[in-house]
Amino acid sequence: MKIVYWSGTGNTEKMAELISEGIKSTGKNAEAIFVSDVNIDLILQEEVLVLGCPSMGCEELEGAQFEPFIQEISTKISGKKLALFGSYGWGSGEWMDDFKQRMIGYGCVISEEPLIIQNEPDDNEDDCIDFGKRIALL
Ligand SMILES: Cc1cc2nc3c(=O)[nH]c(=O)nc-3n(C[C@H](O)[C@H](O)[C@H](O)COP(=O)(O)O)c2cc1C
Repeated sequence: MKIVYWSGTGNTEKMAELISEGIKSTGKNAEAIFVSDVNIDLILQEEVLVLGCPSMGCEELEGAQFEPFIQEISTKISGKKLALFGSYGWGSGEWMDDFKQRMIGYGCVISEEPLIIQNEPDDNEDDCIDFGKRIALL
């Protein structure tokens, strides 16, 4: 499974690594890939999309790399199972609600409720690992 993420200060990256660890603990392969390193054709072959981005801008996805990636795949992901995650700093996680609704609009199926964690995932490592274990079963 491939986990595609953007991270500025490492929090969402740490979540991606822990989710990868959880998937691997079930015996499946997992790879966390920074969004600018992604091979879009390979991602589109995946049955389950695992996508992570922190809250940036004002409750928005990161604009320079992650947002263009989502725009690029948006017309080609109808029917895909989806698991979303990301870190945020304050507020109620509005960016993730918007992200989820937007992906549903593209025809994705929310197979696992999004995982959001405030700041670094240090106190929530097990939540990330368990999220990965559940995704591995999708
Ligand atoms: C430019 C910028 C804008 C941000 N905007 C929000 C925001 O609107 N809402 C929020 O909850 N956190 C916001 N944050 C906080 C980040 O989401 C938070 O620091 C997060 O842990 C960063 O994840 P990362 O380490 O993966 O980059 C913002 C941070 C930056 C640098």
